[in-house]
Parts: sequence; C-alpha cells; structure tokens
Amino acid sequence: MHNLLKGKRGIISGALDSNSIAWKVAQRCRQEGASIVLTNAPIAMRMGEIKKLAEETNAEIIPADATSVEDLTNLFTKSTEILNGKIDFVLHSIGMSPNVRKNVPYTDLNYDFFTKTLDVSALSFHKMLQVAMKLDAMNEWGSALALSYIAAQRCYPFYSDMAEAKATLESIARSFGYHYGKKRKVRVNTISQSPTKTTAGSGIKGFETFFNFAESISPLGNAPADDCANYCVMMFSDLTRMVTMQNLYHDGGYATTGVSMEAMEKFSS
Ligand SMILES: NC(=O)c1ccc[n+]([C@@H]2O[C@H](COP(=O)([O-])OP(=O)(O)OC[C@H]3O[C@@H](n4cnc5c(N)ncnc54)[C@H](O)[C@@H]3O)[C@@H](O)[C@H]2O)c1
Repeated sequence: MHNLLKGKRGIISGALDSNSIAWKVAQRCRQEGASIVLTNAPIAMRMGEIKKLAEETNAEIIPADATSVEDLTNLFTKSTEILNGKIDFVLHSIGMSPNVRKNVPYTDLNYDFFTKTLDVSALSFHKMLQVAMKLDAMNEWGSALALSYIAAQRCYPFYSDMAEAKATLESIARSFGYHYGKKRKVRVNTISQSPTKTTAGSGIKGFETFFNFAESISPLGNAPADDCANYCVMMFSDLTRMVTMQNLYHDGGYATTGVSMEAMEKFSS
C-alpha cells in the first residue's frame, strides 16, 4: 500500500455485492488511507450485503436513489458532516436499463423505460455533480469518476439503450468537467471498463460469450475489477491532478485492437 489517498474523504456509490466494481474500489480506497461513505439505492440495501463492506471499511452507509436530487442533497450534506470536511472524490458506479432487464428489443424500445435508463445511468451523474457544486461540497483538486463502456463509441447490439446512456454519461463528464474545473478545480472523468462479471454485467444477454470474445481480442486480456479499482485509486489521487474531461480506457488494449491472431484463427478455413 502507498497511502495514495491518505487524509482524503470520498463517496462511493454502487457497491451491491462483493462482485461489484464499487465494492473493490471501496476496499482499495480504504487501504490507501481514505475515509469513505458508501451509498446505494434504498432498494439495494435490503439485500444487506453492503453492511459487510461498511464494517470492513469502517464506513457509514447513506441510502440515496441517484435519480433523486433530494436524496443526493442529503447524501452530500451528511457525508461532509460524517467525514468532517469537504469531499475529495466521488465514484459513480451506477447502471440499470429496464429495457435490458425485460429483454425488450432495441427496435421496439419502451420509451418510459428508456427515460429511466438515461436517468439512472447517466443523468444521475449530472445530478451528483450539480448537487456537489451547489453545496460547495468538494475540495479543490477533487476528483469525480464514473464507470463507462465502449458501447458509447461503437455499436454493440446486445447493449441496447445502455449505449445511449453511456454516451450521455461520457458527454456529461466532458461538459461538467469544464464548468467544475473552472469554478473549483474539480476533475471529472469516466473510465471505460472491460466486460466484468458483476450483477449488472451478467444481466446483459449473451454476456458470457461476449466476455470470452473481448478476452480473445485484448492483448492483455479483459481488465479485472481489482485492476479497475487500482485505476480509480490513481484517478482519485494527487498523481493525476491535471487529468480531466477524459474517457479513459481500462480494457487491456481492447479499444485499439482491430483483431487478434487468436480471433483470426477461429475463422480460418
Ligand atoms: N460489469 C461490466 O461488464 C461493466 C463494464 C463497463 C462498465 N460497467 C459499469 O460499471 C458500473 C457498476 O456496475 P457493476 O458492473 O459493478 O454492477 P453492479 O450491479 O454491482 O452495480 C450497479 C449498481 O447500480 C446501483 N443502482 C441501480 N439503480 C440505482 C439508483 N437508482 N440509485 C443508486 N444506485 C443504483 C445498483 O444497486 C448496483 O449497486 C455501472 O455503471 C456499469 O455500467 C460495468
């Protein structure tokens, strides 16, 4: 451990169970010396898993539906009280599409569901940032991060309306990053992560097959959740002070590989 986050205070959303990327981020942030508050949708609390993480990381849990400005206002206000100061880093690790959940075809989308997808998976990041800015709840050189996926740039047919959500999420990081940088020197970025075996990931139809495909394309293989947590720690640390408004690929080289020899061999006659 390197004490990279010593003395820093953070809010981590999205830890549902021990497979969640946010779960690993919370553990790593704690190991690096940060004090954290955990948050998730009130409905996710019922599973009770997050309490184990809270004990392990000595963190309090503040339930918040990330689509509710009122809940988020409570989250940031209480977090600064509990942690005894302004916040240095925030992780947005939230994604959900009712269309995907209910297997609705992309060309027959339910638009109420679509609106929900965008609200939960993308606008919630804007809401977090707007609330934090209005409350002046973040320290200068603070860092806000959201987790994204390459379907924001390229077509992955199985990813349905989550692709639009991720494109919006990344755009919010750029746009808000400008304003928050100017106003308070707060950094805003997204990390575009490899397919990862979590509840949200595995909920996508054909996930397992695609996981194996991505593994065969990426020169380093798919990036595991533990490594994603390390990358998040680095982005929260002072070592990346001047990085903002970026979408950063954490994918073992997948995004810039056209094809691998391994994948070619599968099609040779
Ligand atoms: N798993 C993958 O393959 C993969 C790849 C790239 C990016 N991501 C992204 O990583 C992030 C975390 O997902 P994960 O894979 O760890 O899965 P996960 O299912 O463990 O986490 C998703 C979280 O979103 C929370 N959530 C849903 N609706 C919410 C709401 N209204 N308010 C607050 N929280 C809410 C859930 O309770 C859950 O904790 C998501 O943004 C996901 O899109 C995942």
